[in-house]
Amino acid sequence: MTFEKMTLEENKMDIVFVGHVDHGKSTVIGRLLADTGSLPDGKLEQVQLTCKQSSEPFEYAYLIDALKDERAQSITIDSARVFFKSDKRHYIIIDAPGHIEFIKNMVTGASRAEAAVLVIDAYEGVQENSRRHGYLLSMLGIRQIIVVVNKMDLVDYKQDRFEEIKSEYSEYLKDIGINPVDFIPASGKMGVNLASLSPETPWYKGQTTLEALDNLEKIKDDPEQPFRFPVQDIYKFASYDEGKRIIAGSAISGSAKVGDSLLFLPSGKSSTIKSIEAFGSENPKEIRSGDAAGFTLDEQIYVKRGEVACLESETKRPPVSRMFKTSLFWLGHEPLVKDKQYTLKLGTSRATARVEKIHKIIDANDLGDSNKDQIDRHDIAEVTFILQSPIAFDLAESNSNLSRFVILDGYHIWGGGIIQSAYKDEESLLRDEVYVRNQRWIRGKTNLEDRMDRYNQKPALIMVTGKQHVGRKTLAGMLENQLFQDGKFTYYLGVGSVLYGLNTDLTRKTSENWQEHLRRIAELAYIFLDSGMIL
Ligand code: GTP
Ligand code: MG
Repeated sequence: MTFEKMTLEENKMDIVFVGHVDHGKSTVIGRLLADTGSLPDGKLEQVQLTCKQSSEPFEYAYLIDALKDERAQSITIDSARVFFKSDKRHYIIIDAPGHIEFIKNMVTGASRAEAAVLVIDAYEGVQENSRRHGYLLSMLGIRQIIVVVNKMDLVDYKQDRFEEIKSEYSEYLKDIGINPVDFIPASGKMGVNLASLSPETPWYKGQTTLEALDNLEKIKDDPEQPFRFPVQDIYKFASYDEGKRIIAGSAISGSAKVGDSLLFLPSGKSSTIKSIEAFGSENPKEIRSGDAAGFTLDEQIYVKRGEVACLESETKRPPVSRMFKTSLFWLGHEPLVKDKQYTLKLGTSRATARVEKIHKIIDANDLGDSNKDQIDRHDIAEVTFILQSPIAFDLAESNSNLSRFVILDGYHIWGGGIIQSAYKDEESLLRDEVYVRNQRWIRGKTNLEDRMDRYNQKPALIMVTGKQHVGRKTLAGMLENQLFQDGKFTYYLGVGSVLYGLNTDLTRKTSENWQEHLRRIAELAYIFLDSGMIL
């Protein structure tokens, strides 16, 4: 396929440059721009002249700053991104190592670097951030890594030094499960082995940095991935098409078509896709990975933002729990501590979260464990979180898209990570039963949403509890009657009414039947609520 014939999506690739401070990331990028002819005419000369006039030595890294205002040109640069093209494809280069925005964007899926160039200074060798960034890439699921051993001019282009760094860093990458694409001896400053091989390193017969980039594989969306559609919003059109509801969001993996039966988690409700809605064009028959879409359902079920739709036929459904073990990268100025409430965001869901257990804190420097009871800025840790309410997610190994989360303290994102394993929480068993019940439930033509509109109320269960003889019944009875007087649809259900009615076959005083008593009361309450009542 020729360059022109490829679609933009096919020949575009996001690459992130990382590495220890001053190891030459920006210089290598600047030089690549210059050597691939990606710079606007006269730009290089102009920057060189400016340097000369202020008697400052010229730096290729300055090109990146100098280009920031040139959005109209073939090459554009915004806060942290550089665009350039080789003969093979367009590159979007992200020069924001360790930058919170980058990590945030990677974790939330806003940006998707498919590969990374990790720059190591040949003179200084492997440093703290060379390791830390390597670890971070592995955590973010970036598997294609090119290691550029830069500043070879400072070590007289000695092969020994290159091999030394290569073997040390390979060892490290192996430990964290990364198999690097290549190691390239280079000099950003001298333009060695970037766009072309240089006579300075006659012993090096491998590919240039540019060739290594061009040989990276485009990661294709795997059509085998299960359908995952985090619900963003529910739009209701009261005046139009019998109060049609459109469920809106984006498919983050897999696909679904009209007629497919969907399961929404954590609620466990299900219904069939009736139509897929598009604005201003003919309605598509299928939602595919990456599509922002809206659809209507056969039945008006009540689902909320934050739920995840998957195919009901799917065997690998997203787990639902309040508790899971994660790998996490912390960037907060304040440490991550136990006994504090944070917000965990995953997909479109948000939940109040607390650290249940810190399993280990990995010192990025030597991958050793540390026994701290808090997680400091830049630490990488394995942590179990417990949430106030359950969410649906995936495990990193099965579908990384829905395993990435961020942790907020107030409005700020201070950390992010991936879910490694799920624990069954206290309600897991119950939840499974509820799912089966919800699926088997036989519904009439009137649905809850219509009832809510008609009764002008949200169904609710209000429990009045307390010690004996404090007046529970009196109070509950007054409340029920007051609500009724106010025009609400209500029912007062005394526990005694259940004990001597529905539950009369269960002994009353023993604790062994306690679970069953509760279960029946809960099921009864479910029916009241499903009929729109305030109980
Ligand atoms: P930060 O963005 O601050 O983390 O640094 P960086 O990794 O982008 O490094 P940068 O490209 O700014 O280079 C840092 C210094 O190293 C500059 O003074 C460069 O001139 C110098 N430098 C970069 N590459 C080379 C090289 O190949 N050889 C030599 N001798 N110096 C280099
Ligand atoms: Mg830089």
